[in-house]
Amino acid sequence: MVPINTVRPSISCSSSSGFDTGPSAPVPKVGFVKLPRSNGGNHARLSLVQATEESTVATTNGRVAAVSGENAHQMATNGKAGNIVWHKSSVDKVHRQELLQQKGCVIWITGLSGSGKSTLACALCHALYSKGKLTYILDGDNVRHGLNRDLTFKAEDRAENIRRIGEVAKLFVDAGVICIVSVISPYRRDRDACRALVLDGDFIEVFMDVPIEICEARDPKGLYKLARAGKIKGFTGIDDPYEPPLNCELALPPKGNSCASPCEMAETVISYLEEKGYLHA
Ligand code: ADX
Repeated sequence: MVPINTVRPSISCSSSSGFDTGPSAPVPKVGFVKLPRSNGGNHARLSLVQATEESTVATTNGRVAAVSGENAHQMATNGKAGNIVWHKSSVDKVHRQELLQQKGCVIWITGLSGSGKSTLACALCHALYSKGKLTYILDGDNVRHGLNRDLTFKAEDRAENIRRIGEVAKLFVDAGVICIVSVISPYRRDRDACRALVLDGDFIEVFMDVPIEICEARDPKGLYKLARAGKIKGFTGIDDPYEPPLNCELALPPKGNSCASPCEMAETVISYLEEKGYLHA
């Protein structure tokens, strides 16, 4: 397969934000993008792509509405930034999904510390990799080493932690990637806000339904012990709340006394993805 950027110059995109195109509506340009071989075929498929030179004005709730030509002169205020215009690319999510032969989605794994979120995320990532599917893990502890290193565990910082992770996950979905998020995300409202960022169905909430007694007995990082000793304040499940999902897509409860293995849990998630068509473009 030829990397898409080797053919990309044949598509002309506006280099600016689109409002220097004059009063008349821009004439659409066309180009070709080489997409992956269709099943069993020997020839790469050439797909006609229209370079829209279209800008989109972002509205204040983060949703976007396409505008072109004269309307592209409009600018928006989004959040705290003013005078910003959404710039649309001629290669979009559909093309990327064709390349990857999968559909972008978020697998949002929520649960207490020690419930096995990261373990499931790794097992899932590995199993999907074996099937030739591209994933990326956004793990709470890891993201707090970089992007979210300025945040504490106060309620408002946890909300901001989840908001940023939700926005990053949304970008991965747009990239066509299966984004696996493993974060405690203790507050229902914050999880629901992330769900609302993507299309219906693209947010798959997986609840690690493991009782605190089991998580505490495991205590893989020794944090429950510190929390019980009062050395960590506001620890989820001890002196900070965890709100279990009300309508999650999947709940993974322990099997009798012992939990299902990470591979078994990963298979459960993969069956769901297969059934919903996320493992095909
Ligand atoms: S969240 O609440 O904001 O979603 P996140 O998933 O990013 O949490 O980070 C949780 C990890 O931070 C836990 O796995 C644990 O290792 C560590 N941690 C440190 N302090 C706390 C705390 N007060 N509450 C929960 N987890 C904590």
